[in-house]
Amino acid sequence: MSGPDLRRAAAARALDLVAPGMRLGLGTGSTAAAFVALLGERVRDGLDILGVPTSEATRAQAEGLGIRLATLDEQPELDLTIDGADEVDDRLRLIKGGGAALLREKIVACASHRMVVIADAAKRVDRLGAFPLPIEVNPFGLAATHRAVERTIVEAGCSGSVRLRVRPDGTPLVTDGGHHILDAHLGAIPDPEVLGAALWAVPGVVEHGLFLGIADAAILAAVQDGQAAITVLGSLA
Ligand code: A5P
Repeated sequence: MSGPDLRRAAAARALDLVAPGMRLGLGTGSTAAAFVALLGERVRDGLDILGVPTSEATRAQAEGLGIRLATLDEQPELDLTIDGADEVDDRLRLIKGGGAALLREKIVACASHRMVVIADAAKRVDRLGAFPLPIEVNPFGLAATHRAVERTIVEAGCSGSVRLRVRPDGTPLVTDGGHHILDAHLGAIPDPEVLGAALWAVPGVVEHGLFLGIADAAILAAVQDGQAAITVLGSLA
């Protein structure tokens, strides 16, 4: 049983939550892609749903599978968003943005009545912060914003380095929204609410990857006796 098998098992459980006629937020990343792939099979068999993708990558995948899509402007209220996460704690607080789609992911999740996370159970943590926290920033004044983010992190009781995310060719990564990503390597975040609020107050910060009070449930898949075993945090009802 490998990582892809576990991602697929979590995605398959999430598919049970989908009902005909739903307006669905479609997440980004390898686990969300597993869900979109399974959803595509159901659509091919006649399921009628409307999807709103959280990234151009997800849009391309869903389009290729024949999933009917809309923009969030056309469908500003969604029934359910299914998305992956980089970390999830027992209070359903998340770090997201490893795939650089955090801004659209957060907008779509917050426009949804429910957000359900799907992940390998290895993403479950006692304390957020081992995964570098992605912070999406406007390109204007990048160096000044970078310094302000470093200061803010210290003031919020954290420590660690903040690094501009670059592409393999060394140039700064550009998000679907035309922004850059600063990754904060903190190790641990003692108070995510304090850090999240402080980062929002920094001019130039567009959004951060702390999803606090947004997820309603998490479907986590782990290997048990050679099979995928599902644990649910929160309620799927
Ligand atoms: C995309 O920006 C992220 O928020 C992803 O949802 C997150 O990185 C999880 O990705 P995987 O499912 O590929 O681990």
